[in-house]
Amino acid sequence: MTSTVVKTIGNHRYAYQATYNRQTGKQDWKYIGKADRFTKEAPRIEIHHADFRDLAIEHGIADLVLTDPPWNDEALPLWEPLSAFAERVLRPGGILCAYAGHKSLPYELNALGSHLTYIWMISIIEPGAKNNYHPARVTVGWRPVLVFYKPPLALSSRRYWKDTITSRRREKDLFVWQQNVDVVRELVRMFSDPGDLVVDPFLGSGTTAIAARGQGRAFIGCELDEGRVRVTEDRIRRDLGLPHADHAIPEVAT
Ligand SMILES: C[S@@+](CC[C@H](N)C(=O)[O-])C[C@H]1O[C@@H](n2cnc3c(N)ncnc32)[C@H](O)[C@@H]1O
Repeated sequence: MTSTVVKTIGNHRYAYQATYNRQTGKQDWKYIGKADRFTKEAPRIEIHHADFRDLAIEHGIADLVLTDPPWNDEALPLWEPLSAFAERVLRPGGILCAYAGHKSLPYELNALGSHLTYIWMISIIEPGAKNNYHPARVTVGWRPVLVFYKPPLALSSRRYWKDTITSRRREKDLFVWQQNVDVVRELVRMFSDPGDLVVDPFLGSGTTAIAARGQGRAFIGCELDEGRVRVTEDRIRRDLGLPHADHAIPEVAT
């Protein structure tokens, strides 16, 4: 039998998976990741240093999975597990919004559709963008965001949402793949309500965490790269007006 345990040591929280070992009669512990809970006023924010495929989140608790997976070809195998992850953590009627790449759209749509149902596509218009994709001789001026849901579809009580959003400026000061926070805020507003839980399994520099917190949503996110976890933590602390963190990770006794 396997269970997940979160330990608090000093200012940090650490998540472990405990599995009962019949032969030794003891629990085997597997470290899953750091799970800091930021304090000051609610809402709750949790940042995990983990691969999203190992992230232990209670099933069916999220209202919105809003994320920006890597778009390169090597990352394509992550899209089907992302669909399975969203299906697991979303409540029925919950929404997945995923930034996507143009080149692999047919693949990404198909992979996300393996566990969720397609609704629509949003175009993030980037005026002045001058990215040329040479093989297709195209100058790219927009980004797709794919919108899926976990049945049943429960949008009838929502206001109409727009399928175009204009990004006012590029924000790349923290990370080369950083998204514009105002656009992410707009997506949070369109697909969730204050008090809802937003989840981002590909945090990068934590733009979704900032957007969700600013709109009064609870947030859980994870990121594979430890440096980016720190960037995100510092960004949230700055946003909350909390002092800079001491990143020393203490020894953990199991
Ligand atoms: C496109 S970036 C996200 C950028 C983010 N939207 C921002 O504004 O900074 C994708 C991130 O996913 C992370 N990543 C890749 N594979 C992952 C995995 N299996 N689990 C968790 N994070 C992963 C990468 O390290 C990268 O930081």
